[in-house]
Amino acid sequence: MAELKKGVIAVSSPKGGVGRSAVSCLLSLALERQGQSVLLVDLDFCIHTQDFFFGAEDRALFGLGDLLAGRQAEEVLLAVTDGGRVRLCPSVGLDGLPDPQALSALLAGLIEREGFDWVILDLPSSCTGEYAAALSHVVLMVSSTDPTALLGVQSLSQSIPDEKDAYLLINRLPLGDGQRTKQGMRPHEMIDLAQRPLIGILHEDGALSCALAGGRAGSLTGDSLVPALNVVLRLQGEQRLLFEGMRDEKRHRRSLDP
Ligand SMILES: Nc1ncnc2c1ncn2[C@@H]1O[C@H](COP(=O)(O)OP(=O)(O)OP(=O)(O)O)[C@@H](O)[C@H]1O
Ligand SMILES: [Mg+2]
Repeated sequence: MAELKKGVIAVSSPKGGVGRSAVSCLLSLALERQGQSVLLVDLDFCIHTQDFFFGAEDRALFGLGDLLAGRQAEEVLLAVTDGGRVRLCPSVGLDGLPDPQALSALLAGLIEREGFDWVILDLPSSCTGEYAAALSHVVLMVSSTDPTALLGVQSLSQSIPDEKDAYLLINRLPLGDGQRTKQGMRPHEMIDLAQRPLIGILHEDGALSCALAGGRAGSLTGDSLVPALNVVLRLQGEQRLLFEGMRDEKRHRRSLDP
């Protein structure tokens, strides 16, 4: 397998709809905000999500399938933000998950030639932990507060080798007082069950879902980016407090103490 020299982040979860694509998009924007250049790779061969999020469907004529078949990067990769530092490889032309060796070699070549600082892999739900781990330096396992999403993370975690850096990332935590929603889990319950450390919490964000649905991901700023910026900083080794909502969790746990 070609050695990948730079930071490759695999965003994964066996449960559909938990926000892998939203998280991949936000992490790319957060890294760009730091002045880094990012290759965002959409590996969902069923739905072309990222070009939709960035309002770039009309420009996404070629994609990863074409790159793997030998097409030049300049014909495939799309600049999708005003800053121009996030380039998207759409999932066009894929009919399944690519062979990991071929993909690894392709990514290594792109990092070398195009000078990307980071690569974000938006993986489909059918992707295994072994596949995600083989292609990346770090695996982010995304879960909503839905218990079945966390079950998915548990089984994903078991298929990722122990020595691999892998973290739980909670997405769509309802904003508010931290009380249990009808079916939702609390962050501390999720941390205990996930078997891997927590890297960050993204709350339910109406502005984010509107921007993504309207193809305006490239213009996301401010509050929507802060949790993703914190995840990026933690990945780079900085200590950052977890989302404010944790305070409510702590208060709640203290109140349970006899
Ligand atoms: N933090 C959030 N706040 C509000 N809406 C969100 C958040 N994260 C994701 N969403 C919304 O949830 C929906 C599913 O998100 P997304 O497409 O990122 O999930 P996915 O895990 O990639 O799904 P798929 O299984 O289709 O690949 C989208 O409509 C998205 O806008
Ligand atoms: Mg997706």
